[in-house]
Amino acid sequence: MYLLLLFFALALKPLLVFAGWGYTDDGSNYVIDVGSKLVFKVSKTNGDINSIVYGGTEYQGYSGKNSHIESGLGKSSVTIVSYNSPANLIKVTVTYGTLVHYIVARYGQNNIYLLTNKGDVSVPASRFILRLKPNILPHDSSMSDFYDDGSTAIEATDVVLNSQGYTKSKHYQGSNYGRVMDFDYVGKTTGSVGVWLIRSNHEKASGGPFFRSLVRRSTVEADDLYEILFYNMGHTDPERWGLQGPYVLSFTDDGAPNTALFARNANWSWFDTLGIKGWVADSGRGSISGAGIANMKDGYTYTVALSNTDYQYWGAAKSGGAYSIKRVVPGTYTLTVYKGEYEVYTTSITVNAGSATELSTITPNSDPSDVTAIWRIDGFLNFDSKPYKPTYMHPSDSRLSPWDAGDFTVGVTATSSFPGYMWKDVNNGHLVYFKLTAEQITSGKTIRIGITEAFANGRPAITVNGWTSPLPAASIQGGTRSLTVGTYRGNNFIHSFAVPASAFLTDVTQWNVLKIIVISGSGNAGYLSAGISIDCVDLY
Ligand SMILES: *[C@@H]1O[C@H](CO)[C@@H](O)[C@H](O)[C@H]1NC(C)=O
Repeated sequence: MYLLLLFFALALKPLLVFAGWGYTDDGSNYVIDVGSKLVFKVSKTNGDINSIVYGGTEYQGYSGKNSHIESGLGKSSVTIVSYNSPANLIKVTVTYGTLVHYIVARYGQNNIYLLTNKGDVSVPASRFILRLKPNILPHDSSMSDFYDDGSTAIEATDVVLNSQGYTKSKHYQGSNYGRVMDFDYVGKTTGSVGVWLIRSNHEKASGGPFFRSLVRRSTVEADDLYEILFYNMGHTDPERWGLQGPYVLSFTDDGAPNTALFARNANWSWFDTLGIKGWVADSGRGSISGAGIANMKDGYTYTVALSNTDYQYWGAAKSGGAYSIKRVVPGTYTLTVYKGEYEVYTTSITVNAGSATELSTITPNSDPSDVTAIWRIDGFLNFDSKPYKPTYMHPSDSRLSPWDAGDFTVGVTATSSFPGYMWKDVNNGHLVYFKLTAEQITSGKTIRIGITEAFANGRPAITVNGWTSPLPAASIQGGTRSLTVGTYRGNNFIHSFAVPASAFLTDVTQWNVLKIIVISGSGNAGYLSAGISIDCVDLY
């Protein structure tokens, strides 16, 4: 008997290799030790992560708040299971109504892997919020999302003027995080400890590759990082249901996170056998590859995107136009080729599991610049340097040039002084002076105003000298706020006006006067009056 016990003791001995690895139940929480420098707790009541200790320091929480989906899920079923294969893993499953959220640890890795399956509209799940203690990670007034002690609200409760007189908001991404396709992670480092939230591939998110939304917020009391699951400001896509993730909270000692965790690089095959609801293994996915894009214009990046009601993907085209998109769930998709952020071609394609759908060279058929214009204005005030200032400050910010710039004269005024945004209540009735030749005025002309977004049903009507255009209908755009929360990204739409020859001055030495008037029956005052974001104005 004694010998048998000794035998078991020796047999268990190898477990000591995993010093600390494993979980305990402290009555209220599952306490998970990754066997390295990270120990965290998950509430057995509601699945909140209520403690995150890295290297002996607590990072989680402020004002009694935890890290969780939305603002916490309420009483949930919370279960825990460990695996020895394909690796030493611990998985917590949090079930709340139709929503299932997973929190996964892997032996020896200072990461928390998160996955969220949104079942339907019955459980709001727009985000995961990581709430970090303030004053561990740097935050200061140079950050576009920092609300300091002197901040006062200037729009809703979330856009503020800070003590230095600059506008700040959690909606303003700052220079590092712009469009979702441009960043892999959000986070901060003290220099010796980095805390990062690495985004998922967003195949079930919304808004496509150029979507802009909040990613972080900090105040003197709080530091937040977000994974956006669906965001209702400026969205133009339906909300998609099903599994999102993994997105990864990762701690480092030496700066940036491991690139192998980025959605575009990661090999998640070790999730294949964990019983994650909605998981689609790579073996159940396909890909597309395109030979090229013809007639590409200099100075533009081309992006190819796939979208249907269930999934979205994208990939950047190389300089010759070749592109590929991997790990696509099978189905029929709309494939869109974007020049910059403008749709120049769409088609329907089918992706099958385990194979690549190959496309021959695409020739864009809806590039507005393929029309030879008599004149074209396509550079804009306050959008003359990247990152565009209106993506990280409110339009009222003192660092911006006044939107009510002077009248514009074609061929004389720099296009960088033509207002990129126009509001009914701020800078309406903008005038554009232009001349036409005797030959040009023998026929009617088309004036196009391309917009990327409209707020409160704003749309342009025009007059040319004494001629007045019909009043156009509003374009279909995303909900709630947009231009004031750091995004111009809505549905591209071209308002096209057929101007009769009789509208133009017969004295060709004189300047014709085009007036652009934002109209709408909706909207409030000032920067929340009806507005449009202009992409291009031309005449042909
Ligand atoms: C992903 O990892 C698995 C397990 O190590 C491996 O079999 C597979 O080949 C990897 N996939 C890729 C695309 O590298």
